[in-house]
Amino acid sequence: MTVTLAELARLGIGSADLAAAFLFLYGLKRMSSPVTAPSGIFVAGIGMLVAVCASFLYVLDVSPAAEPHLLTNLALGVLALLAGGSVAWWAGRRVPMTAMPQMVAIYNGMGGGAAGGIAAVELFAGAKGSVVALAVTVIGALIGAISLSGSLIAWAKLQGVITKPVRVKGQQIANAAVMILTLAVGIFLVSAELGMAVPIVSIPMLIGIFFALSLLFGILMTLPIGGADMPVVISIYNAFTGLAVALEGFVLQNPALMIAGMVVGAAGLLLTLLMAKAMNRSVSNVVFTNFGDGAAKHNPAHMKGSLKPAEAGDAGIAMRYAKSVIIAPGYGLAAAQAQQKLFEFVKLLQGDGVSVKFAIHPVAGRMPGQMDVLLAEAGVPYDLIFQLDDINADFKTTDVALVIGANDVVNPAARTDKASPIFGMPILNADQAKKVFVIKRGDGKGYAGIVNALFYADNCDMVYGDAAVVLAKMIDAVRGLGSKQAA
Ligand code: TAP
Repeated sequence: MTVTLAELARLGIGSADLAAAFLFLYGLKRMSSPVTAPSGIFVAGIGMLVAVCASFLYVLDVSPAAEPHLLTNLALGVLALLAGGSVAWWAGRRVPMTAMPQMVAIYNGMGGGAAGGIAAVELFAGAKGSVVALAVTVIGALIGAISLSGSLIAWAKLQGVITKPVRVKGQQIANAAVMILTLAVGIFLVSAELGMAVPIVSIPMLIGIFFALSLLFGILMTLPIGGADMPVVISIYNAFTGLAVALEGFVLQNPALMIAGMVVGAAGLLLTLLMAKAMNRSVSNVVFTNFGDGAAKHNPAHMKGSLKPAEAGDAGIAMRYAKSVIIAPGYGLAAAQAQQKLFEFVKLLQGDGVSVKFAIHPVAGRMPGQMDVLLAEAGVPYDLIFQLDDINADFKTTDVALVIGANDVVNPAARTDKASPIFGMPILNADQAKKVFVIKRGDGKGYAGIVNALFYADNCDMVYGDAAVVLAKMIDAVRGLGSKQAA
């Protein structure tokens, strides 16, 4: 029995797809803990490499009609890989932690665009499959295109290229009309491809109109949403991209694409729901309402108590003489890139016998897990880091809560003020510590745009300044005491 090259190639593709799918799933499993996450990312990356290499085996299994283009196609594939790989390598090394959400938005958009591209090739190739295959292709194209243009708008908002939400009267009705029109063109396209309808324009033109409308819908859907809601929106588009890739995997009968797409889709969906839950908002509230616009009316003119400024050095020394300190980091820590200084300060306190723990709120910062990543980057051991539910009860027996660049996630209004936009959101109980120090630059508000009653509380002092500068002063003050660590 002789085995042809094409049969060998098919066997290789099948085995490689299976291996890639296994590596994706195993990598994802390892990403569930900060300890194993770096190796999880590496494993999933290997899976991607296997899948990319496998796609080159397809050229060994070509029809005679495609054979003349074999070398050109191979060269184009290698060129695309080199261009994409080098840009991603360069950008990945350069991008600061605070710009990660933008980067995720761009990469996510590329995934949606790639799924849309596969669908376009299939549609331009004409009706090869059943009505089901064509319908799946068109649905995948729609979702992929929406994800591409929506993610690009999300990037522009996070990057500050688009600074304001674009809202006009009747926008939601206009968006609904564009969606209905897109679906109608999609249905007509499937019928035309199957020869069941005669289009007024050519099929390629119909495909173009369908993609233009889908891209337009992604833009229109994202433009009115405020910049601060973009992380949730990106997560929604992440779920879209996964679904689009899985649908195109079904069309191509490619198990690696199907499994990777479903994994990404499910992860994006779960992340969206978890983020919305942690903010005590529904997903439709994020997409259809203008969060923070009504914040002004939740700002009471007269807060009880007063803002009490404190010197950085005095606050540092007070913590040096405390028995226990819990640190609540927030977005400002990432903005100041002060994680290294913070850990330096923590090591000084620990050296002098102070018990120090970190309290992480699920939506502290601007993207999921941002605080865990920052602290891991600084080398903070995982056993010092506690999630909200595991540490909240400890605040009331703690001497000092040190709030660094966090605002909404420690705002007690979430517990008591029914009119507050964050009412019902679980918060870190920093206010229950015996003493609270808050590091922030001035009276800047947080993401929700509301005043924080904690800052006015009797047990709270404000240490004004950029987090990195304030922490440097605290370190100097504690070292000046002749701390054991400094000796
Ligand atoms: P925020 O409430 O946004 O507050 C951050 C504070 O940091 C600001 O009040 C700001 O005050 C201060 N700050 C900024 N730069 C600083 C710097 N260089 N040094 C010191 N302080 C600085 O942050 P949070 O408490 O982390 O809460 C996160 C918010 O984002 C929540 O409302 C959450 O719902 C929302 N959100 C989170 C996510 C995810 S997944 N994490 C996604 C979407 C929305 P000054 O200007 O006075 O310094």
